[in-house]
Amino acid sequence: MVRTVVLRHLDADEGVIGFNTDRRSPKLADLETTPELAWHLYDRARKLQLRLRGAASVHINDDVADRAWDEVTPLGRRCYGQALKPGASSDDPQLPLPSLEDLEAGDPALLAQCRENFSVVRCRVTEIDWLYLEFRGHQRARFTRVESEWQGRWIAP
Ligand SMILES: Cc1cc2nc3c(=O)[nH]c(=O)nc-3n(C[C@H](O)[C@H](O)[C@H](O)COP(=O)(O)O)c2cc1C
Repeated sequence: MVRTVVLRHLDADEGVIGFNTDRRSPKLADLETTPELAWHLYDRARKLQLRLRGAASVHINDDVADRAWDEVTPLGRRCYGQALKPGASSDDPQLPLPSLEDLEAGDPALLAQCRENFSVVRCRVTEIDWLYLEFRGHQRARFTRVESEWQGRWIAP
């Protein structure tokens, strides 16, 4: 299934990108079944469409998740303190969230409660379809990562 996410990690040398999510969310259950991701990105200013593919890994209680958690602001951390798991039905359109003041003050119990639901998804990209929209005629290339090297060739747009 398709989901919009914020690109939170990019390591060009390693060819790894990633996003953060609630560990209780259905998207993680989907990744358990099929640990693969396809990404679609469009940069309007550059007139560039990118379609990426690669293997996904989920990080919950490890260094990757700890380092990513360190970079999340108190406002971002608060979203992970929701009592109901994402997708659960609710009678209330606005679910209560933990106190921002307490999170900003570093309340350890509250921080632990939010951290418990935090996870990171990383994707090792192995295929890139690059399309540049150009009024004289579009340009398109396909790149494949073989070990640590990218191999690319022009293809018809
Ligand atoms: C602009 C935008 C950014 C989003 N960023 C994220 C994100 O970084 N991580 C995430 O888990 N969900 C993000 N979402 C919500 C997901 O698209 C998705 O609707 C939600 O996580 C439910 O997914 P599920 O199918 O796993 O229940 C974002 C939604 C929008 C509109």
